[in-house]
Amino acid sequence: MESPPARVGIVTVSDRASRGVYEDRGGPAVARYLGEVLTCAWEAVTRLVPDERPLIEEALRDLCDGQGCCLVITTGGTGPAARDVTPEATLAVCDRMMPGFGEAMRAASLKSVPTAILSRQTAGLRGRALILNLPGNPKAVGECLDAVFAAVPYCIDLLEGPRLTTNPERIVAFRPKS
Ligand code: MTE
Repeated sequence: MESPPARVGIVTVSDRASRGVYEDRGGPAVARYLGEVLTCAWEAVTRLVPDERPLIEEALRDLCDGQGCCLVITTGGTGPAARDVTPEATLAVCDRMMPGFGEAMRAASLKSVPTAILSRQTAGLRGRALILNLPGNPKAVGECLDAVFAAVPYCIDLLEGPRLTTNPERIVAFRPKS
């Protein structure tokens, strides 16, 4: 029997995009990236929330627990401005943190933009889901995900989630045991 599509949560965190002041470009950039990289069946479950910690936490909990997402990617709200609280919301809902993802994404981004260090982006596990924070700039999506995505499928394997496969011309998924 064919396995059901892997569900991936995409959360745009932005006061202005959520009020309709401007169009959400971060969430669609994440969806586009996954569309180019993943070769397995998958579907996006999208959310657009303001920079309010309770609302971000509620979206993350629902995507992991209610919607059965194996991977949840947030974009926005990772900087030093007073309303940037996505990393705090992520920490609050995660059982265990995966700090290497944030470190690797910042290090890669620093090669193209000095202000990459201003992102407090992190990652963690809630149940069987991996939550990854990205900055809000749509340009950051590819730069950050290219730096870490090779390790994402094996992380999802270890969480007993769906087997994610990738287009090797974009990302070669690294599975040490296979
Ligand atoms: N990382 C990449 N790859 N590209 C970027 O343009 N912008 C930086 C940083 N990381 C950026 C980046 C800037 S200017 C800020 S303030 C922080 O991410 C936080 O952005 P956020 O609050 O939109 O998440």
